[in-house]
Amino acid sequence: MSLVSASVFCLLLLIDGVLSKQVCSKQDVLDYLNLTRGNEKFTTCRPPLDWTKPTIVYFDIHLFCILSVIEKSQIFVPFLWMTARWNNDLILWDPKDFCGITNVVLPKEMLWVPDLFILEAIEKEEGLPNPYLTITYDGNVTMEDDHKIISTCALNVHKFPFDTQTCHITVFSVNHSDKEIKLVPASNSTKATQMARDLLLTQGEWELLNISVSNQNMLYEGQSFQTLKYT
Ligand SMILES: *[C@@H]1O[C@H](CO)[C@@H](O)[C@H](O)[C@H]1NC(C)=O
Ligand SMILES: *[C@@H]1O[C@H](CO)[C@@H](O)[C@H](O)[C@H]1NC(C)=O
Ligand SMILES: *[C@@H]1O[C@H](CO)[C@@H](O)[C@H](O)[C@H]1NC(C)=O
Ligand SMILES: *[C@@H]1O[C@H](CO)[C@@H](O)[C@H](O)[C@H]1NC(C)=O
Ligand SMILES: *[C@@H]1O[C@H](CO)[C@@H](O)[C@H](O)[C@H]1NC(C)=O
Repeated sequence: MSLVSASVFCLLLLIDGVLSKQVCSKQDVLDYLNLTRGNEKFTTCRPPLDWTKPTIVYFDIHLFCILSVIEKSQIFVPFLWMTARWNNDLILWDPKDFCGITNVVLPKEMLWVPDLFILEAIEKEEGLPNPYLTITYDGNVTMEDDHKIISTCALNVHKFPFDTQTCHITVFSVNHSDKEIKLVPASNSTKATQMARDLLLTQGEWELLNISVSNQNMLYEGQSFQTLKYT
């Protein structure tokens, strides 16, 4: 008798547990943040609530392949994977309130993104840019994109085929000085070189020797702009 009642009790508990299980969607997180398409609070301005604080953008470039090196027109065409990560302090939620959701992928036009350009690029690349960003519960925003970059490079192939060429890729923000955007390399030279060696799909007649990453300031109209230089 007592055995039967014990098992009934267990069964009830189990049903109760199933019924109270929370169901969440990633849309609930966006609703909680009031992060809607066209909400200017998120799209117009650089995110720190205190405007005197710069936005630190961790930037990384991975070299996938060298598509071409044309001496006559001094053109270097690498295919790169670029990632940029920064913090947006308007974005914050507790994963415990949303069934453990820790990240949400959303269209790029819903949030402010830094305007990053490559100094050496001479032609807008074709192809579709990745239209999405990933946000995390603690406000990290990640932007990832692959690009074919048609860039200028001072080439000197007199000693072909035993020559060494040095090309630069310089990343900077057009509209924001270094008081507003600080670019920080996510990988140092050692790591960037190692990753490029691991990733490089086709080297063709070129062998990658070294990638060095450096941070420099560029002066323009009396303002200092920070640049990241990959060589
Ligand atoms: C959410 O955003 C909408 C439009 O962008 C605005 O009208 C509304 O007041 C906001 N609600 C809250 C709670 O901030
Ligand atoms: C967000 O970025 C900070 C600083 O770089 C890092 O410490 C933290 O682990 C990141 N959060 C997630 C969820 O990746
Ligand atoms: C940023 O710079 C670009 C290129 O110079 C310009 O087209 C754009 O209007 C600027 N954006 C802002 C918000 O000033
Ligand atoms: C470069 O980064 C790697 C891994 O992130 C680290 O182990 C190494 O010590 C760093 N090297 C220098 C010179 O900072
Ligand atoms: C690669 O560049 C780094 C940083 O500029 C330098 O310390 C290292 O000696 C270079 N390695 C080679 C093989 O050129």
